Amino acid sequence: MNIGIYPGSFDPITYGHLDIIARSAKLFDKLIVAVLSNPQKKPLFTVEERLEMIKESAKDIKNIEVDSFSGLLVDFARLKQARVIVKGLRAVSDFEYELQMALMNNKLDNKIETIFIMTSTKYSYLSSSIVKEVSRFGGCVKDLVPPIVEKRLRQKFNIK
Ligand code: PNS
Repeated sequence: MNIGIYPGSFDPITYGHLDIIARSAKLFDKLIVAVLSNPQKKPLFTVEERLEMIKESAKDIKNIEVDSFSGLLVDFARLKQARVIVKGLRAVSDFEYELQMALMNNKLDNKIETIFIMTSTKYSYLSSSIVKEVSRFGGCVKDLVPPIVEKRLRQKFNIK
């Protein structure tokens, strides 16, 4: 079975992430959406909340599995028998850090490849951080995140 893994913080999932999930799920028998559990990053949402929002947002995509991990991504990929890491690239500014991670992951396990999918231009300006910032101050994020995420953001920030 050809298994891919799409890792991220997903704090929270946006339409940009969902675009990458939908497109990359077509390339594999199974795509694992892997949520990094890293309390040092001080996430807005707990791992459980992030998993719930991804599962709800991507429920129409049948060949995905949503799971969380801590530690090294390559170790989790091996555990899940995934041989391909999928990353989204929005702009040139993403490239340097992504290249560094891809090379490091390849050094850690050269049987695991990283592939990059270009984010659709309509989402190229989008990031979880910017969504949180806009939402925190009451801005509308309806076109940027799935309905469940919009709802959870409003609950977090006590916005009516
Ligand atoms: O959504 P993000 O925060 O850009 O995702 C970053 C992520 C989760 C892909 C990255 O931080 C990661 O893979 N972390 C796991 C730790 C690890 O394997 N580090 C070595 C790779 S350089």
